[in-house]
Amino acid sequence: MRASDKNYIKNLVKLARHDQILNPLVVTFHITSACNLNCFYCEDFGARLNSQLPPPLPLKDSMRVMEIIRQATDNIVFTGGEPMLYPQIDELVAKAKLDLGFESISILSNGSLLDQHESLLVYIDRLVISLESSDQASLQSVTNASSKITEKIIDNIKHYSKRQGELGFVMIINCVLTPETISEAEQLLEFCLEHNLIISFSPQAVNNWPRYELLISSEFKLFIAKLQELKKRGAPILGSYAYLKTLEDFNPFQCYPSLVPRVMPNGDLIYPCRPIEKENGTHGGRPCNLLEVNSWEEALNIAYDQFGPPPRVCTSCFQQCFAEPSLMQARPFSHLRELLLFPSSRKAKLSTYSPG
Ligand SMILES: C[S@@+](CC[C@H](N)C(=O)[O-])C[C@H]1O[C@@H](n2cnc3c(N)ncnc32)[C@H](O)[C@@H]1O
Ligand code: SF4
Ligand code: SF4
Repeated sequence: MRASDKNYIKNLVKLARHDQILNPLVVTFHITSACNLNCFYCEDFGARLNSQLPPPLPLKDSMRVMEIIRQATDNIVFTGGEPMLYPQIDELVAKAKLDLGFESISILSNGSLLDQHESLLVYIDRLVISLESSDQASLQSVTNASSKITEKIIDNIKHYSKRQGELGFVMIINCVLTPETISEAEQLLEFCLEHNLIISFSPQAVNNWPRYELLISSEFKLFIAKLQELKKRGAPILGSYAYLKTLEDFNPFQCYPSLVPRVMPNGDLIYPCRPIEKENGTHGGRPCNLLEVNSWEEALNIAYDQFGPPPRVCTSCFQQCFAEPSLMQARPFSHLRELLLFPSSRKAKLSTYSPG
């Protein structure tokens, strides 16, 4: 049985014992801070911030960080910034699979450089591409990129969507729902149906919380209700039914941030989660750098000693990357229902779904 599946089962026992610290299902590694776009909703990264953010680690150090991560799980998500801008991304991904034995590798990308990194596609399981519109002009206003780049993004998506079977990966579109983009979401869903793509929707977060205009928007509520209906009828929507339900009214959910630990481009471990770390308070932060520890266990012990266990009840954010695994872990019957009724969730491994 795979390490991440074992962790899912062990976590059920931990939950029965009311243990708040669960084993990781996946680790997210921000392999670089650099980006070539400037999406208007993106708060932490973007080309405008490139000179202010630290450079990525050399390949040897990134490999060491991944060796430590591998002790925690066999599931890794590479994100950024734009991960395709990591100087040796092709080699890094190949080594993650062949040398370190990661069973499941996902990349979150804006899709603009995909054709330059085709060789890594055979090593990955899921490619999650950010896209808010299939219309070039609209995509330009989201990404603040030239028409040449947005044309390339859409061409790349169309081209590699056809090669999913041959190269052995699943392509997922992640659409950030904002007051500016929501009117295009249905058309985007059509685009995904036409090109055999799975789609997921995340509400735009502003300072970790869904943007106020969405909270009060009837258009947003209606769209979320419609997504549930479409999902029931077989549309390839990745967000779980349980997650879409919580989005209707932004109902609080029990969060388990230790399911999805995050590592920054310099190797710093974030504990217990990025939103709490960003608050700069006493409940979380960056307890250690994975280049300076001998094991994952040592890193976690340093984190617990410094910050204690994660919060028992927390309603400080509503990020899909934490909400979805937390819901699917804490509600095994919802997870089972999801897997039985909705084939898209099976294809894209919803319990470890983690855009962000
Ligand atoms: C930070 S990006 C990094 C990977 C890559 N550059 C990309 O855009 O896919 C990771 C994911 O976070 C999403 N994201 C960025 N800012 C967000 C926000 N304010 N609210 C919700 N999702 C956001 C993006 O759409 C993307 O799917
Ligand atoms: S969402 Fe991704 S592509 Fe867009 S600015 Fe942020 S890191 Fe770059
Ligand atoms: S709800 Fe958000 S801020 Fe609170 S523990 Fe979960 S991920 Fe962290």
